[in-house]
Amino acid sequence: MSKKTVLTGITTTGTPHIGNYLGAIKPAIQASEDARYNSFFFLADYHALIKCHDPARVARSSQEIAATWLALGLDTDKATFYRQTDIPEITELTWLLTCMTSKGLMNRSHAYKASVDANREAGKDDVDDGVTMGLFGYPILMAADILMFNADIIPVGKDQIQHIEMARDIAGRFNHTYEPLFTLPNAQVDESSQLIPGLDGRKMSKSYDNTIPLFCSTDELRKLVSQIVTDTRGPGEPKDPEGSTLFQLYSSFASPEQATDMRQRYFEGIAWSEAKSALFECLDNQLSEPRARYNELMSDLGTVEDVLQKGGVKAREKSAPFMDNVRIAAGIRPLTYVPAKPQADVPAKKEKSVEELARVEQGRRRAIMMQLKPLFERVTAADDKAEMAKQVLAEKSAEVEQLKKKQKQKAQNELDVLAEELAQYL
Ligand code: TRP
Repeated sequence: MSKKTVLTGITTTGTPHIGNYLGAIKPAIQASEDARYNSFFFLADYHALIKCHDPARVARSSQEIAATWLALGLDTDKATFYRQTDIPEITELTWLLTCMTSKGLMNRSHAYKASVDANREAGKDDVDDGVTMGLFGYPILMAADILMFNADIIPVGKDQIQHIEMARDIAGRFNHTYEPLFTLPNAQVDESSQLIPGLDGRKMSKSYDNTIPLFCSTDELRKLVSQIVTDTRGPGEPKDPEGSTLFQLYSSFASPEQATDMRQRYFEGIAWSEAKSALFECLDNQLSEPRARYNELMSDLGTVEDVLQKGGVKAREKSAPFMDNVRIAAGIRPLTYVPAKPQADVPAKKEKSVEELARVEQGRRRAIMMQLKPLFERVTAADDKAEMAKQVLAEKSAEVEQLKKKQKQKAQNELDVLAEELAQYL
């Protein structure tokens, strides 16, 4: 089986915090160690310009996020690690996709609608007040990030699911209009990492200003841990570990055995001050090594820059030739370009490699699968799946019979794919 591609990016507007680490960076690094995946991780610095117009902050955040990935042990021989702005094909693709995206789709984007709602609530005449075209078209840039590398799996937070759905829509339209060049991506949401609480108990997030920076100094870490909210239960009173921010953070970093012990201590009435010390010790322990590496890298940014440059070269080995194909599919071609003749007229080309043929076949199949989506849904939604699978196949066969030659071939292709896919139910 061919490897799946995992891809994710982090917007360079802030300092990485414990929530980013547990929710995004740690699982991504784990995936990059898994031989079943190809991984692409990047600094989404074009995305930063959408919401942040403070150049010093964007620049600083890029340094911090890059150094963080490396300090945490990302192996850049295994993963492709790059900066979005080093890949000019991404902005090029953004334009081609912009021309494949209906304005209505963007009107429905949560990020845009949130701004409109806020303006409406504030009683503003212009509901688009303060909305840039960057914010409005943000999902298209994100689609380009994803589709550029034909990524299959996109690990993201819940708030990003809609963007992945939009990337699928846009890819589908391109595939249908031109050629099936793009893989349709899937969001992967890890429920447990959605629950990392911040200092005040709400989800840890830059926008709530309740974060613990991943690599703050020992003193600052101690101070922040001491600020974590607790209830008023005194020492000796039993406490609920699940409802406690301190315990949730502790168990995200401690070993399972340590977490079990600590849970017991909560039931036995550990004092909040002691629970805070335990959390501080645990965090400081786990983070001190990568923190030292982080500090080294932050004072040796030339090395970090080199790593990104190399990653950029590696990424462009994929993006540049792929973008050529995308442009050609859309008709942006050298004047002398001669399109390949339809297959029937040319003898089978010997020089096509097995992988190329497999890719073409995969693309063809993906396009057909998209057409068939409603039919698959009928089967998966049915109580008696075998019965429904039979019915769907019978309907398609009847359709094939009634068609003229060319259409018949198309429907026959669909019937073939359908029969293969539904075999599991029969
Ligand atoms: N928009 C994402 C965020 O704010 C970051 C991002 C940009 C991203 N491009 C991406 C995430 C592509 C996954 C895939 O979190």
